[in-house]
Amino acid sequence: MSTGKITENKTQHDAVIEVKDVTKNFVVGKNTIQALKKVDLVVSATDFMVIFGPSGCGKSTLLNIILGLDKPTAGEVEIRGKKINLMSEDERAAFRAEKIGMVYQMPYWIKSLNVLENVSLPLLVRGLSQGQSLIRAKEVLADLNLSDFSGQFPTQLSGGQQQRVGLARAIVTNPWILMADEPTGNLDSKSGEDIMKLFLELNKKHKRTIVLVTHNEDYWNFGNRRVEMSDGEIIEDKRHG
Ligand SMILES: Nc1ncnc2c1ncn2[C@@H]1O[C@H](COP(=O)(O)OP(=O)(O)OP(=O)(O)O)[C@@H](O)[C@H]1O
Ligand SMILES: [Mg+2]
Repeated sequence: MSTGKITENKTQHDAVIEVKDVTKNFVVGKNTIQALKKVDLVVSATDFMVIFGPSGCGKSTLLNIILGLDKPTAGEVEIRGKKINLMSEDERAAFRAEKIGMVYQMPYWIKSLNVLENVSLPLLVRGLSQGQSLIRAKEVLADLNLSDFSGQFPTQLSGGQQQRVGLARAIVTNPWILMADEPTGNLDSKSGEDIMKLFLELNKKHKRTIVLVTHNEDYWNFGNRRVEMSDGEIIEDKRHG
């Protein structure tokens, strides 16, 4: 159909992530689980994509394959035209650290470091000086209205506050893409909504591409695109807003 063609050309033009014909099988004993079945997905630079679907349908597997943490059984993934399955393990890790920010259901902290130090850590790992890292971490915390927490230890904060600091840490390296797997899973509805609004701001104001998995149907229409998965396949991909 002609309208489909126009959309396709546009999305391919500014594609950030291209998942091409990706299949993922897990072999457990004598059984093979088909976690992903020939999945095709193009994520545009401006997308805030919300992915949902029943438990076990392959959402986390898809995210892990895009991140290069797991290898597809067949098919390939390109990020801004770069084939991640052709990279070495080290190249992939460096690429991930620089270009993709990741947020999980429970943020992981170095407990002996305060909020500011935890947020600066990805920059130290990338080789920035401690001074430069702390300056940039302060900027990001201020940007997200989190400066008040700088000197506290993450474990002294509420779940929602920790998740917001986790988001600051995920964007401190200025990644192209932010990926999140159930980031509101442990939060009450008010804190969950605050997190979703922060993602929206990062998408709109800071022009980050966002791919987010959630079970919470209140958030399925939060971004500009909703993708429904079932049994290893994408069964609906709807743009709105
Ligand atoms: N490392 C693994 N080894 C074997 N099977 C796996 C592995 N990881 C995932 N699977 C299987 O692949 C399928 C998809 O799992 P996945 O974790 O992607 O689901 P999900 O959609 O993220 O579910 P949930 O909403 O519960 O997080 C499931 O049947 C799961 O049991
Ligand atoms: Mg999952």
